[in-house]
Amino acid sequence: MVYLLPDADWWRQAVIYQIYPRSFADANGDGIGDLKGITSRVPYLKQLGVDAVWLSPFYPSALKDGGYDVADYRDVDPKIGTLEDFNEMSATLKQAGIKVMVDIVPNHSSDDHEWFQAAVKAGKGSAERARYIFRDGLGENKDQPPTDWLSIFGGSAWSPSGSDDGQWYFHWFDSSQPDFNWEHSDVKEDFLKTLKFWGDRGVSGFRIDVAHGLAKDMSEPLPNWETLDKLTTRKLQNGNAELVHPIYDRDEVHEIYQSWRKLFNQYNPPLMAVAEAWVAPDRKGLYASSDGLGQAFSFDILLCNFHKEEYEECINRSLAAAREIKSSNTWVLSNHDVMRHASRFGLPDVPNENLPVSQVALNVFLQNKLQDPKVDVEGGLRRARAMTMMILALPGSTYIYQGEELGLQEVVEISPEERQDPIFRRTEGHDIGRDGCRVPLPWVSNEKNFGYGSGKSAHLPQPDWMSQYAVDVEDRDPSSTLNVYRKALELRKELQGPEELEWIKNDDANSDILHFKRPGGWEVVVNFGKTEINIPAGQVLLNSSGKALENDKIPGETTVWLKNE
Ligand code: GLC
Ligand code: CA
Repeated sequence: MVYLLPDADWWRQAVIYQIYPRSFADANGDGIGDLKGITSRVPYLKQLGVDAVWLSPFYPSALKDGGYDVADYRDVDPKIGTLEDFNEMSATLKQAGIKVMVDIVPNHSSDDHEWFQAAVKAGKGSAERARYIFRDGLGENKDQPPTDWLSIFGGSAWSPSGSDDGQWYFHWFDSSQPDFNWEHSDVKEDFLKTLKFWGDRGVSGFRIDVAHGLAKDMSEPLPNWETLDKLTTRKLQNGNAELVHPIYDRDEVHEIYQSWRKLFNQYNPPLMAVAEAWVAPDRKGLYASSDGLGQAFSFDILLCNFHKEEYEECINRSLAAAREIKSSNTWVLSNHDVMRHASRFGLPDVPNENLPVSQVALNVFLQNKLQDPKVDVEGGLRRARAMTMMILALPGSTYIYQGEELGLQEVVEISPEERQDPIFRRTEGHDIGRDGCRVPLPWVSNEKNFGYGSGKSAHLPQPDWMSQYAVDVEDRDPSSTLNVYRKALELRKELQGPEELEWIKNDDANSDILHFKRPGGWEVVVNFGKTEINIPAGQVLLNSSGKALENDKIPGETTVWLKNE
């Protein structure tokens, strides 16, 4: 029996598939994935069994940051399609029972956005400049940036206005991504218009980029970088409200989301939203509250090493936090910003105290580690599958990143000339960046570009080894990662019940097993150890993350789903 949630709560236990449009499927053969490509692959998504897709940005963009540099929030990039293509894609997904979420990037626009172009032209002190964050430079000629702050992507966080007037603009990310001034009413109104535009076009919700960043207090005196950097780390580790940060996780940001929530609730069912908020655990609830965005990614689980204790602690903490604010958990192991988890689990552990606190820092850290040739590909995939089956069994929703269902590894074979991530360029190659998880998908092993597109080569190089992960190959193999995901998603629909979890404790203190029960007799055993264990008595095996199940044993580093006999 399928557990039915009220329509308004569809997102609470949904499986949402993240599509990175330009790397998904290329219908017109120009090397860049497009909306028609997505439409052509709807049968695949339907068979996979996802409830919704979230599309990373497909808006007009110079692609200086993979589309997170948006030139027009209410249109489709001509390189990727048209608004008609968007309608066709949505209708096809809807017919297949799949909802659509789009990505909203409110912290910054592209420097190609008409407002920014107008701001540069209109000059110092103009009304047009007030929509962004312009300041005079330091020094006699104003040729020094207003502060010594660094961009998250490396280099200065300020660039000259380009009109020779001694002014500089603030960009937390790339210089092509000027930050908006969220105190300006035009900015507030325009984003409401954008949300309504997509809401009226039938989307079911939004993923909110850099949700912790919009509200800023840029009044003088601004701290120097050293002070700011220390404050950021303290804020991320221990977000208590007294730590007032000029641009990070400020309380006023929630006024913005409350105004959005009013708009969301005018739809039936209400639109949902999930925050990308890299904030301390005690601050996450503010983003996920029902008068705000409603949901926030639990990135914590992405930071765990493959150890029972780390996961148990993280799951308990995340569930308690979500319960307290009546939101649901949002589990995620991979996305377009972090190393693919099949590779991450093939690297040596990272001691917890050394973990970088922000997502970008984490990825840079792991990417640099990945250059070490000793990645355990087989073990990485085995552990990745076990962790995916574990999070899919937890109460709450799960976000899947395109290609993880194929067990894809991070691609390291990308030459410096081919790299696109601004992080690589801005750090002069010191930090490798995020291109390795954004390489286009392999669909058919023996076709040109592995079936991604029949024309030009993919915009990021697809190494030969990708053919063994192609959809057609995995489709034929009953124990492939793809078939493990398909089976898990199908079963999950039947097994999912109320958002409750009960741990079943083992008497053996050294046990490497996590064992929990969900309502309706569904039990889950995760064997973190290397040696096989017995299936508990009286249980029937429903699904296993492992390749094959031999003689009723649960192999090492494997998750199984069981049901009471
Ligand atoms: C978010 C996105 C990332 C992007 C950044 C700037 O973290 O996920 O891909 O580079 O914001 O928009
Ligand atoms: Ca294309």
